Amino acid sequence: MIGVFDSGLGGLSVLAALVDALPQADFSYYADTAHVPYGNKSEEQIQGRVLAIGEHLVSHGCSLLVVACNTATASAVQALRTAHPGIPVVGVEPGIKPAAQASKSGRIAVLATESTANSQRLKRLIRDHAGHVEVLVEPCPGWATHVEMLELDDPELAADVRARVEPLLDHGVDRIVLGCTHYSFLAPLLNQVIATRAQLVDVADAVARQTQRLAGRLAHGSGRLQLQASAHPERLHAALPRLHLAHLAARVA
Ligand code: DGL
Repeated sequence: MIGVFDSGLGGLSVLAALVDALPQADFSYYADTAHVPYGNKSEEQIQGRVLAIGEHLVSHGCSLLVVACNTATASAVQALRTAHPGIPVVGVEPGIKPAAQASKSGRIAVLATESTANSQRLKRLIRDHAGHVEVLVEPCPGWATHVEMLELDDPELAADVRARVEPLLDHGVDRIVLGCTHYSFLAPLLNQVIATRAQLVDVADAVARQTQRLAGRLAHGSGRLQLQASAHPERLHAALPRLHLAHLAARVA
């Protein structure tokens, strides 16, 4: 079984790509809804949660882990790998490299949680892969919580999206990296603001391809999905149709 986790609903955007890439694999998805959001928590707090969830998933039969959360990857993927040396761990990092490679204007932006925006890991990613372009890092406090509450059409959120993204576009940014898995569900709202001025960069498919390379015999299961949450698991099921993921519900064991 492949374990996939996030602070909440955001990682479902990665799970959808994983299920497309590995339709016969068995997945266990864990949403840490008792502790969402991670984006305003300390590195120590996030590490504590990631290690506890990793332990839970491994003890329930997962032999490959996907950290479907940029914030958790930035703070804790190393600690998770150290805790489970025999288990492949795939993390999610903002698509700085593909965005920098594709940019024609030489200006890109990354939208992320406060924690990811301030992380050493993001700074390193920018230094290693985007030295030749200008990178604007935009922390977006509250966006993940709006997604978590399924407030995708909230006018306050729409106004904040516009207020944060317009200046990036005015600055000439032509690639906008989704640096938080929750933000994939805000793509329609973001695209309304962006129109044809830039393209969104989402790494969910790249993460799915990397997982596919590591899956081995795990690719050949019975196509089942377990959904678990540290609080209100019923909300996870109910969220699927709201997030246009009703097709995943049919897999739930
Ligand atoms: N979905 C997460 C990410 O990719 C974190 C959102 C949050 O809990 O703040 O960064």
